[in-house]
Amino acid sequence: MDLDRLAPDAARLWADVHELAELRDGAEPGWTRRVFSEPYRAARDWVAARMRDAGLAVTADPAGNLVGRLPGRHGGPPLVTGSHTDTVRGGGRFDGVVGVLGAIEVARRLRETGTRLDHDLLVVDFLGEEANPYSGTCLGSQAACGVLSAADLDRTDARGARLGDAVAGFGLDPSAMLAPTWAAGPLHGYVELHVEQGATLERAGVGVGVVTAIVGIERFLARFTGRSDHAGTRAMDDRRDALVAAAKAVLAVEREGCGAPVHAVATAGNLLVEPGADNVVPGSTVLSAEFRSVDAGWLSGVRGRVTAEIARLAAENGVEAVLDWAADNDVVPMAASVQNLAGQAADALGLTWMAFPSGAGHDAAHLAARCPAGMIFIPSRDGRSHCPEEWTDRADVAAGAHVLAATLTRMDAAPALTAG
Ligand code: HGY
Ligand code: MN
Ligand code: MN
Repeated sequence: MDLDRLAPDAARLWADVHELAELRDGAEPGWTRRVFSEPYRAARDWVAARMRDAGLAVTADPAGNLVGRLPGRHGGPPLVTGSHTDTVRGGGRFDGVVGVLGAIEVARRLRETGTRLDHDLLVVDFLGEEANPYSGTCLGSQAACGVLSAADLDRTDARGARLGDAVAGFGLDPSAMLAPTWAAGPLHGYVELHVEQGATLERAGVGVGVVTAIVGIERFLARFTGRSDHAGTRAMDDRRDALVAAAKAVLAVEREGCGAPVHAVATAGNLLVEPGADNVVPGSTVLSAEFRSVDAGWLSGVRGRVTAEIARLAAENGVEAVLDWAADNDVVPMAASVQNLAGQAADALGLTWMAFPSGAGHDAAHLAARCPAGMIFIPSRDGRSHCPEEWTDRADVAAGAHVLAATLTRMDAAPALTAG
């Protein structure tokens, strides 16, 4: 196939990226579009309209994902691509978005060139990929792939609100999220276009990344219970200061990440202090943190080591510490078959590429349990992401969509893809 036939309309795709970016929460920094927010609802409506304009039959699956279907010549197990359009608070314009809009652009080019795939093509905007206040991530892809549980829906945020209630408040049926979806059946394969969110490609001067594995992620919400007291009358040796205990825990998180034998990262990202008054010894605090590595052995020991260390440190201040752990996903290898086809696609387009693991989590980590899955990265300027400075050049966004098209056509032509 003449691959230039499926070259994206770079200007159209670039305009889509920046039009979608403006559907954001104006009261928040950067390009914020949090899951369950009104800007997110508006963005999903906008994406559904773009999907329909591209000739996709759009449905919302029970898991809350937007699914656009392009019928293939022979049907059978569908080919799947997509990503997410929710952001972190203070996020950027490209994380997740390039995978959804790049896939819609591929669908447009298939129709405009009269190119029919053998397999149905599903373009998916997955619900709530980003970490949410309920210690969850990848809500829609976990639900679609049958790994979201009723217990997950009962998880609460730092103030005790339930995930299930937040889902219902957004107009979705929480119980339906536990029902089988299109991902319960056979799938031909999955590939996701995404910005790298790191600096590997930029530093190497390489245009395309082929992802070898997705990092394993463990996270906790730690509740510290001490005693509120008058800051002026309670002696230092007679306090149960929950903020001091949490502060020690933050440094313990950093020590755990820095002490890993193979590359790992550990981040304490949020802290709630109660009652939060200048003249009151904090009686309770809630700290969230996460740990990531491709070293499954190290990651498997994190919960035990960190729980014991934080309990010891909290006891020094007479504070009780309770840690509620959740795993986003184990270390997930990407299918060699999809990696090879993505590399061949980049070669065919004359683009330089390199293979390496993803330090970011992705919906692909859950699709990989259902079918051979892979990811294509494009460069992030200065390796920045999850911040307003997040940026990817227009030429790289277009190249990514072109490699996505070339990879999808190769996957479509493959009689069967293997996970190995
Ligand atoms: O946190 C992550 O790695 C992803 O951006 N959700
Ligand atoms: Mn993402
Ligand atoms: Mn992200």
